[in-house]
Parts: sequence; structure tokens; C-alpha cells
Amino acid sequence: MSILSDIASTLLTPLHRSLAIKRLRKLERTFKFVEHRWVVPFAFRSHGFFKGMRPMQDLREIEMLYRLILEKKPRHVVEIGTARGGTLYMWGQACADDAILVSVDLPGGNFGGGYRNCRTPLYQLFARDKQTLHLLRADSHASSTCEHVSTLFDDGKVDFLYIDGDHTYEGVKKDFIQYGKLVRPGGIIAMHDIRKTPVSPETQVYRLWDQIKQHCQTTELVNDKDQTSVMGIGVVHIPETGMPDLDFE
Ligand SMILES: C[S@@+](CC[C@H](N)C(=O)[O-])C[C@H]1O[C@@H](n2cnc3c(N)ncnc32)[C@H](O)[C@@H]1O
Repeated sequence: MSILSDIASTLLTPLHRSLAIKRLRKLERTFKFVEHRWVVPFAFRSHGFFKGMRPMQDLREIEMLYRLILEKKPRHVVEIGTARGGTLYMWGQACADDAILVSVDLPGGNFGGGYRNCRTPLYQLFARDKQTLHLLRADSHASSTCEHVSTLFDDGKVDFLYIDGDHTYEGVKKDFIQYGKLVRPGGIIAMHDIRKTPVSPETQVYRLWDQIKQHCQTTELVNDKDQTSVMGIGVVHIPETGMPDLDFE
């Protein structure tokens, strides 16, 4: 049954894709102002392989980060963990009109499973005005991936890095160390799932976060109001003097 429905979905993919694009554009007409556009990927529903693009985020926490990014309007943006494209859509809206955005995801990767290649043309439409979007289907931990990412920016430097890929301690540490080096003084690194949660013991971002916040200026975007968050977003503000040397375990 599921093989048959997979075949049917594949045959219907071009139709589903054009329906999804229409749906996206309609939502954008509903949420006219950029201040509200973060809602679009939560509201989006369509068909087949394009059923949803819901961000894997707490609503209040991602709204706080969206507003911060909207205020800073970064030009060079890197995201690790594309998945359904929810947060990627938001960065396209919040960043500068001529931003270069790079989103990295490992097909079949842990903590979300990546995305089907047929969704790539939909994600490409997230780039607006003079923006450029690069979708890399690769392992973020490979040094070749990080080198590739740095070549996509004229000065090799990043204004905003969002880390939401491998959530194991070693995995997130690798991403933080490798890609953190690309972030310019005055830039921002945000990382998802900084809270310890019994729901997902393999999520160990909190261990890295506890170390980072001892050495860096940080802000925690945590939905304490609803007391529902098991996620939490940590923001690291890179000082004008550059990233301090961090001594990890
Ligand atoms: C939690 S999801 C990202 C959610 C997305 N940021 C959102 O909220 O819209 C994590 C993604 O990271 C990807 N991932 C896991 N390990 C990775 C790795 N080593 N390199 C690149 N991507 C990885 C997974 O495939 C998954 O799609």
C-alpha cells in the first residue's frame, strides 16, 4: 500500500509542486508584512511530498529569533539542518535583500532525515529579490563541506550561522568549531535545542551550551511563558574582538 502510494506521489510530483508554489504565494499575500512572514511555514499545507514545511521549532522561540535576525538583516547566512525548509524560509524573509544563503543537510541524516530532492525547486523559491540560495546536500562535519561553504561568500565570512543539524554532543561541537570560525566579529551564532530533554536523551546540545555560555556573551530564547518548551534557542554574540578561544572537553 505504501509503495503504491509512493509511486502515485512520484507521478503526481510536478502537479503537487506547482500546487505547493501557488499555496506559498497565496500565504505570502495573506501575510503581507515581513514582520509576520515567520508564520508562513507554520501555516503552509499542501499535497504529496510537499505536505508541509513546518519548522521543527517552538513558535515563540523562533519568533524571537526571527525578530532578532530581521533587525540585524545579515547578508551572509549559513544554516545547518534544512529538513522541511521551515527555518530556511524564514531566513530568506528576514535577511538582507541581497543576502547569500547557504543551507546544508545530509540526506537521511539523524534528527529529521533531510528532504527529498524533488523539494529542491520549492526551496529555491525562498530566495527573494537579489538573494542567492545554495542548497548543499552534504555532511556538515566533512571539512570539504565547510571549505565549500566558505567559498560561497566573497570574503569567506558569515554574519549569521544557525546550527540545527546533528544534535549529539560531538556532532554539534564539530559544527560549532568548524563553522564558528567563519563567523565575523559582531556576527551571531544561534543553536537549537539547548535544553536538556528526557524526550530525546541523544540530544546533547545543552552540554556544549553550558560550556559556551561560560566564555561568550549569550542570550537564551526560551519559551518560559507557556512552560511547554523542551527546545530552547541559544544565541552567541561574537564580540568585535572575535571569538574567544574555547577549551572544550
Ligand atoms: C531538526 S532538523 C532541522 C530543522 C529545520 N532547521 C527547521 O526547523 O525547519 C535537523 C536536520 O539536520 C540534518 N542533519 C543531521 N546530521 C547532519 C549532518 N552531519 N550534516 C548535515 N545535516 C545533518 C538532518 O538530516 C535533519 O534534516
